[in-house]
Amino acid sequence: KKILLMNGPNLNMLGIREPGVYGNNTLAELERQVIEYGAAHDCEVECFQSNHEGDLVEKIHATHGACDGIIYNPGAHTHYSYALRDALGSVSTPCVEVHISDVDAREPFRRISVIAPACVAQVKGRGFAGYCDALDILLEGVTERLG
Ligand code: DQA
Repeated sequence: KKILLMNGPNLNMLGIREPGVYGNNTLAELERQVIEYGAAHDCEVECFQSNHEGDLVEKIHATHGACDGIIYNPGAHTHYSYALRDALGSVSTPCVEVHISDVDAREPFRRISVIAPACVAQVKGRGFAGYCDALDILLEGVTERLG
């Protein structure tokens, strides 16, 4: 199977950015962990990170018919980007939304996800392990969206 691991804005700053919230490990380390977990489950994991909404929209479009699932941490786009929600709604590729932190236990604006309805599941507050949980969910073959 082919899986896209996608991280949105500011996640390239993992390891530097608010380590008390997001930990000390880098994006490269996260990607290595998910690639390894994928390999152990017969999945090829492609990694993509961008700080630009349009680039993320186009990456989602490119998964249509080409990819079996998306593991996606949309960062702050989670809370307001209808363009990314609609991008996920434009393709048949199932997506699991991931948050490293527990977004429900932080500022109120983080409790809202406009992306979740276009996803088949949401994983939050599990640190980097949440990305592997997301792969497990995709491998279960869940296709019904939350919205
Ligand atoms: C995040 C939570 C978001 O609220 C925040 O804007 C991020 C990271 C997380 O992984 O916990 O950039 O998605």
